[in-house]
Amino acid sequence: MPWVVREAVRDVNRAVGRRWHAIDPLLPDPGTLPTGCGEPLVVTGDNGRMAGLGVCVHQHIPPQSLNQTWGAADRFTLVPRLAGQDVAGTADLLLSQWRDHLAGVGVTRGPDTSASVVWPSLDITGVQALLRHGLQPLTVIAARTCPASGPPQGAPRGAYGVTIRSAGPADEEQVLDLELRLIRYDMHFGGPVWRANTARLVRDEIRTSLARPASWTWLAERNGRAVGLLVAQPPKEAGWIGGMTSKTTTAAYLQTMFVDQAERGTGIGAALVRNLHARFDASSVAVTLLHHSQVNPLSAPFWYRMGYRPLWTSWEARPASALR
Ligand SMILES: CC(C)(COP(=O)(O)OP(=O)(O)OC[C@H]1O[C@@H](n2cnc3c(N)ncnc32)[C@H](O)[C@@H]1OP(=O)(O)O)[C@@H](O)C(=O)NCCC(=O)NCCS
Repeated sequence: MPWVVREAVRDVNRAVGRRWHAIDPLLPDPGTLPTGCGEPLVVTGDNGRMAGLGVCVHQHIPPQSLNQTWGAADRFTLVPRLAGQDVAGTADLLLSQWRDHLAGVGVTRGPDTSASVVWPSLDITGVQALLRHGLQPLTVIAARTCPASGPPQGAPRGAYGVTIRSAGPADEEQVLDLELRLIRYDMHFGGPVWRANTARLVRDEIRTSLARPASWTWLAERNGRAVGLLVAQPPKEAGWIGGMTSKTTTAAYLQTMFVDQAERGTGIGAALVRNLHARFDASSVAVTLLHHSQVNPLSAPFWYRMGYRPLWTSWEARPASALR
């Protein structure tokens, strides 16, 4: 990249950083752009200066990876940096360039493809442009910060007749059953895709995680039967997502939350989450992140009741050719 272009990119990045921090203090610094599939897409403002740019990343997720269960097999992601005052107009021009670029990539015409943009949830300036280009708000990364007053004293409140306990290797079948039911439930909302290898790969992941001395997996039991599951990752395992916040090294991740349908609405979900929060709040965890489907009617009300709020929204067109 020539020196003048590198300077312009730096200026855009600085302006994006100022804009993001004014919108939401939990957003990170924009950081270095990933290496894309080619030269960045660039939008020039009326004053002749760079108003925004975007890098297109192509990813093929192989069938041997559990990641293929969480979305399309071929993913095209636009990483935008929009500095200017007319963010909506710049976003519109950038998305048009991206659409034209993807139209020239043969793979995007396949059914198992997606085109996505991860956008700060509190940045409302680009929403109209994203909608106009056929993108749908599919998944939210929600965040909860540790309360300033510190952890509550005493044991967290439980649910009547329900015991919460840490899971171990002997619980593999029960954990697997609840995990697979969660995936099947979430599939209603257009996120996960059931693959030939899904059950086997989920089992492998559970086996590895339950074999650890501290498994970070909890079961809620009624009369010895598992009726709820929560799986989390402490900051040292959550580095893959920590960079999505300004609290990079002290961000934990809440990976799985499921309560048996017949037991919902009785306080089991809240008891599992309070048990986790008590541990995180007593340690150095500054923020807990999780993914939930934007259109899951059960998850958003529950998570926002538990102290979470939206941080990033993933806007997606599936298949990728639905981008317009
Ligand atoms: C989301 C889920 C885990 C909630 O568990 P739950 O045991 O039913 O929740 P609780 O009974 O502990 O509810 C805790 C609080 O959230 C509220 N709440 C829970 N679900 C709600 C809903 N759908 N709408 C409004 N409020 C809700 C409860 O009223 C309660 O509030 P209170 O503290 O004022 O009494 C459960 O519905 C579930 O397993 N859903 C299917 C899987 C899923 O969506 N998982 C989340 C994926 S991200």
